[in-house]
Amino acid sequence: MTIILNLRSASSGEAKSCISRAAKMIRSGGIVVFPTETVYGIGANAFDAKACLKIYKIKGRARDNPLIVHVSSMSMANKVGTIPKRYSSIISSVWPAPLTVIVKAKSSIPKIVTGGLNTVAIRMPDNKVALDLIRQSGVPIAAPSANISKKPSSTSAAHAKKYFNGKVDAIIDYGPSRLGIESTVISLSDFSLLRPGSYTMKQIEMAFGRRAKIADENIGVAEKPRSPGTKYRHYSPDKPLFLFTGDINSLQAITRGISGKFTFIGSDESSKIMRGSAGSVIRLGSRKRPAEIAHNLFGALIALDSCKSEFAIIECFSEAGMGLAIMNRIRKACSNKCFSSQKGLEALLKR
Ligand code: TXA
Ligand code: MG
Repeated sequence: MTIILNLRSASSGEAKSCISRAAKMIRSGGIVVFPTETVYGIGANAFDAKACLKIYKIKGRARDNPLIVHVSSMSMANKVGTIPKRYSSIISSVWPAPLTVIVKAKSSIPKIVTGGLNTVAIRMPDNKVALDLIRQSGVPIAAPSANISKKPSSTSAAHAKKYFNGKVDAIIDYGPSRLGIESTVISLSDFSLLRPGSYTMKQIEMAFGRRAKIADENIGVAEKPRSPGTKYRHYSPDKPLFLFTGDINSLQAITRGISGKFTFIGSDESSKIMRGSAGSVIRLGSRKRPAEIAHNLFGALIALDSCKSEFAIIECFSEAGMGLAIMNRIRKACSNKCFSSQKGLEALLKR
């Protein structure tokens, strides 16, 4: 049975007792879905190999795709991995933040958590409930995003409930995730970006005084990606989803023969243009506010599964700032199926 712990309107006393109940579950080998500032996580005691194995089973996750270990203090982080001295004070001033660092793993971390690698991913989430849960548990919490493998990440407890009701011990409901896209992952061994995320390249440069180099896997040329997760299918809705890379003003004409058959996912501005031709429209927010697009993206991909349309078209966004992570998630959700002309769309529909 899954207990839903509702903290959305809880008094501070009620919240405290809910978190202490969830912490007890973590300590005794249980699985708890909890909020972070990026997306919801599905967590277990990072020192407990048996509990962490359950996460892989529940998610249907490949065993070589390691988990992120969530900590509530630098001293806890130092028990999980070796943070290079030269970065330690910077990381301590940046955290809590949506920035995950890959460092050498301590031997106390079971191999199941690191997917057999000798490195470990660590982050301190910028969310009060997540931090309280880790503190009260007294152990670091290993947690991937709270979704069935290949499906879009949960940005609300309702999404997590849809995926995991009856499969986890508890789901903590603390309302919608503030940011909506997962953390940025960087390797500290060569200061490279393994996964773009909610912590922007500019923020990295400002904090560390240097630019992270983009790892091959982000431009699709790595034979063996160092971030194992990047080689798997991701964020995929049930329906075919195609990325439109052309000028939005031409999309209406391109889709004339199939109007009504597809769902359009895009900015408020483009949705106005497509309202008449699409069977349904899912609005992501204003193009002028990338944070809003990021916040709504996974919810839109999850909502798409309940639309009656045969397939969906999503539009492109600028890759500046948060846009890098937004377009990374969109491309993966589309499995890189792009078009810019009527012929291109017809070819995709014939596949
Ligand atoms: O915002 C987030 O990061 C969320 C919340 C819950 O914290 N978590 C999350 O976890 O997105 P997950 O498992 O969905 O993504 C973790 C990514 C995967 O791509 C994985 O391959 C990579 O981090 N990763 C973990 N450990 C690694 C390691 N030792 N070396 C390279 N990549 C690693
Ligand atoms: Mg994930």
